Amino acid sequence: MTTTADYTEKIPNNVSLHEDRRLQRALESWQPNFLNWWQTMGPTLPTQDVYLRTAVNVGREGWAQFGHVPMPEYRWGIFLAERDPGRRVGFGEHKGEPVWDKVPGEYRSELQRLIVIQGDTEPASVEQQRNLGATAPSLYDLRNLFQVNVEEGRHLWAMVYLLHAYFGREGREEAEELLHRNSGSIDSPRILGAFNEETPDWLSFYMFTYFTDRDGKYQLGTLKESAFDPLSRTCEFMLKEEAHHMMVGTTGIDRVVQRTVEVMREHDTGDVAGLGAIPLPVIQKYLNFHYSVSLDLFGGETSTNVANYYTAGLKGRWLEDRRRDDHKLTSDSIMVDTLSEDARTGEQSIGQTEVSALVGLNTDLRREYISDCQGGVKRWNRILEEGGVKQRLKLPHIAFNRKVGAFAVIEATPGGERLSAEEWQHRSGEWLPTDVDKTYVRSLMQPVHERGKIAAWIAPPKNGINGQPFDYDYVHLI
Ligand SMILES: [Fe+2]
Ligand SMILES: [Fe+2]
Repeated sequence: MTTTADYTEKIPNNVSLHEDRRLQRALESWQPNFLNWWQTMGPTLPTQDVYLRTAVNVGREGWAQFGHVPMPEYRWGIFLAERDPGRRVGFGEHKGEPVWDKVPGEYRSELQRLIVIQGDTEPASVEQQRNLGATAPSLYDLRNLFQVNVEEGRHLWAMVYLLHAYFGREGREEAEELLHRNSGSIDSPRILGAFNEETPDWLSFYMFTYFTDRDGKYQLGTLKESAFDPLSRTCEFMLKEEAHHMMVGTTGIDRVVQRTVEVMREHDTGDVAGLGAIPLPVIQKYLNFHYSVSLDLFGGETSTNVANYYTAGLKGRWLEDRRRDDHKLTSDSIMVDTLSEDARTGEQSIGQTEVSALVGLNTDLRREYISDCQGGVKRWNRILEEGGVKQRLKLPHIAFNRKVGAFAVIEATPGGERLSAEEWQHRSGEWLPTDVDKTYVRSLMQPVHERGKIAAWIAPPKNGINGQPFDYDYVHLI
């Protein structure tokens, strides 16, 4: 069953919004608030129009169209993946039962909370990235930034639709709150830590889209399994858009590494600061930072809340249907990371402990994420290898720079050795970006807004967007 997108409406949608006047009116009254938020908290660089992809349908082919669009006129719409009428709950105590079209009363507050937390991250990243346009290394990159931004805006719409359609007055209030909290705000910050960090330069942007957007991919992946079918279908379609955000991060870091290798070879030195490229140790520090704050987003190693979400059918595992077990996990166990204490000396060390599989689900998801992240490191190291450079990039140890979970109370090196708080104070600048590193990276961030040109610290992309060449007029500035 395909519901085709309705573009004649004020809010494009494939959920037959016109059949529910109350809901339509509620969303139409949220719309100006959203646009006001976009104008005040969205991209600051003035543009005429941008070559953007707009979601127009959810089918396998032709789901999006490309064209130059003035950004405030982007058609943010509500799109749910097609409904599978035979879909059944895939895990937990309701496994095998038909999925839910409505929110069961007993799970109402939990579901609302999950949706609000997901929804909060979407506008947060737009806020974090709002000033980056002013220093874009090329029009191609500028266009990609704006594409990510408008789609995060659409993801906010996706969550707000669920809140309005299924959670009544409370849902509408939460939808308002999503526009009132702001990234980095002292009074009303965004819910999760990584979304209150700033994204002050383009190296941070690529790292963010690689590591932090990838956390989003895994969270959406677990919500896609939900027994609450509208949530599942929303997340399925969001994942489709999310793939582009990952691409921006992956190839962005590719191109930074590529350029660094070129300059290293050209000048036969690793010391490329001052030569207009970003030194590998600085790239490694940025990687260390973004990876470690993204690990925190998966929560503690163990969580009874998450165990309950799973048992209730609200949130599954990554690729649930590919797991070869009973999908209930009531008698399974998992080894999770922990700080273990030596009974005799009282000394703590980094180790593992066995817990019930349900309670360890955060660890399961974080491990899926970590192995995905290894893929990026592998490809960047291939660029180094092919460039004849000996150094390699590495993911830091799981205990490094953590603020959430078992390792929040200790300090460790990227290699996983314990450090005293004092040693950490002394040495953290070896592993995390220092003010000097950040100032240097920022000094490279001179805008290149000329068609076909690119900044000296990054290599051009291998491919343009939608078959267009690199020197295409992706953005018309004012
Ligand atoms: Fe998103
Ligand atoms: Fe994203």
